[in-house]
Amino acid sequence: MPLTLEQLNAASALEAAAWLGGLYEPSPWVIEGALARRPFLSLAHLKYVMADIVRHAGRDRQLALVRAQPELAGQAMVGNTQTPESGHEPDQAGLTQCTAAELAKIQRLNADYNAKFGFPLVLAAPGPTGLGLTRSEIIATFERRLDNPADFELLECLRNIDRIAEIRLNDKLGVTPELGNQVWDWAQRLATHSEAAYADRGELTVTYLSDAHRAVAQRLAHWMRADCGFDEVEIDAVGNVVGIYHGSTRDAKRLLTGSHYDTVRNGGKYDGRLGILMPMVCVRELHRQGRRLPYGIEVVGFAEEEGQRYRAVFLGSGALTGHFNADWLAQQDADGVTMREAMTRAGLCVDDIPKLRRDASKYLGFVETHIEQGPVLNEIDLPLGIVTSINGSVRYIGSIIGMASHAGTTPMGSRRDAATAAAELTLYAERRGSSVPNVVATVGMLEVPSGSINVVPGRCNFSLDIRATSDDLRDSCATDVCAELVRICERRGLHFKLEETMRVAAAPSAPAWQRRWEQAVHALGLPIHRMPSGAGHDAMKLHELMPQAMLFVRGQNAGISHNPLESVTNDDMQLAADALSNLLLQLATELQQASISPAPD
Ligand code: GLV
Ligand code: MN
Ligand code: MN
Repeated sequence: MPLTLEQLNAASALEAAAWLGGLYEPSPWVIEGALARRPFLSLAHLKYVMADIVRHAGRDRQLALVRAQPELAGQAMVGNTQTPESGHEPDQAGLTQCTAAELAKIQRLNADYNAKFGFPLVLAAPGPTGLGLTRSEIIATFERRLDNPADFELLECLRNIDRIAEIRLNDKLGVTPELGNQVWDWAQRLATHSEAAYADRGELTVTYLSDAHRAVAQRLAHWMRADCGFDEVEIDAVGNVVGIYHGSTRDAKRLLTGSHYDTVRNGGKYDGRLGILMPMVCVRELHRQGRRLPYGIEVVGFAEEEGQRYRAVFLGSGALTGHFNADWLAQQDADGVTMREAMTRAGLCVDDIPKLRRDASKYLGFVETHIEQGPVLNEIDLPLGIVTSINGSVRYIGSIIGMASHAGTTPMGSRRDAATAAAELTLYAERRGSSVPNVVATVGMLEVPSGSINVVPGRCNFSLDIRATSDDLRDSCATDVCAELVRICERRGLHFKLEETMRVAAAPSAPAWQRRWEQAVHALGLPIHRMPSGAGHDAMKLHELMPQAMLFVRGQNAGISHNPLESVTNDDMQLAADALSNLLLQLATELQQASISPAPD
């Protein structure tokens, strides 16, 4: 019989410590500290308390904890000295079947790591699902982590120890994160579709209306229809995948939810997609229970949010808010294919796009679940965070034009070098962004078209992305950077072109909707952590039409995103699905209590 939380809360400290003894072997102070903070409100609460104790233990205890961990595939395993709790974990990863060359490599990496940091690498070999990282994933992680700074690595080892404890605790309590596993499986299957040139290198890239993009849309639509029980599913005129699960009456108002399914180039598997798959799994559960809520649920997989193929961004959510600009149809991708051509080839009916505008009076609001894409939740050991506001942003595409000339014969004082001017601008943007809290400025693309090693650059193309918690902060930074561009070009005898390609206002969460997310997280027994979103999201477009609020899910690997290392555990996905289910039920209760009308704010 698995242990229960009730038993743990009721047991004597001695008995409970014996039950949990193996979780943080061999450091009994973690469990002793956690038990002193009983009662545990939930399994998630217990996990949080243990991680919190580790995080606040002080450096000496933390180092001792890390140093006490068995070395992966190293001496401990060879000598077969592991405890029962740790013994099966490397087995799951297949580490016991390492070839001699792999074992030698792991041992060499182990030695290098120990020499550099003074403690052994701790890696939760069971990985994000508990089923085990592959040997090549383990070796790649080892190699990558060797490059990290020492302080960061100590914390990363501790987080891995927490993850190992989490998996052991799930085992003890007989808990399987079923919904988290389902979302994880869907995300892996979607990630098998990538554009050919990138797939060949094992990279994930899904830009607007590429073959991979259309395959992902088909997958989503199929799962919505066949697996989840949505009543209506369609791919709309801009490529959004729209699934409707009706409320108790077909004309009931709807909750709108979703996120995007396109990716950046060489991106991660969860950015955007989590926000589609989470409500899908919740609808699947409602459908399995034969349950209808007093409102409908409309899940949208937005076709485009990342601005990768065309300069225009938020094509999917912009169509719903009535902000799809017909002029964009003439924009060309890098191969000269216009947006109109791409849409026509994909069988989309461009003329129907204006009809996609939603009538706000038919909706209760918009919620979006999204991977955090930053380090904050990871650092504070919290699986979920509440978004208070999405930063406002503005983007430009520009060119500085000088004079291409011979690199050997053009004296330094006579050059009109476009690339050095762009370099000056980049450094200024960095300085200006750093000078004020809550502002970021990035030159993410720099290109000397047809540059040569022996030619002074005559042209340099660049991008500029400026974001801030308020539109005023954003605009004053943008004004300064643009003024600096004028000054640089005047001083250097150059000229420039600059086109604003996107401007989205900061989007504070609607208080009532933010409160619903807070209540959902509270119901899971977790502390509430409020935070702004530095990244842009579809919610900021929907904000123009209806109240919105977002939930963030912790990312692994220090929260890295827009990167193949982006990762979320099945346990955290489970919690996000539970939080969304809770929000759906809260809303149902509110509407029932308000006796059909009026609608909640
Ligand atoms: C979208 O991911 C953005 O914030 O750039
Ligand atoms: Mn993104
Ligand atoms: Mn995103």
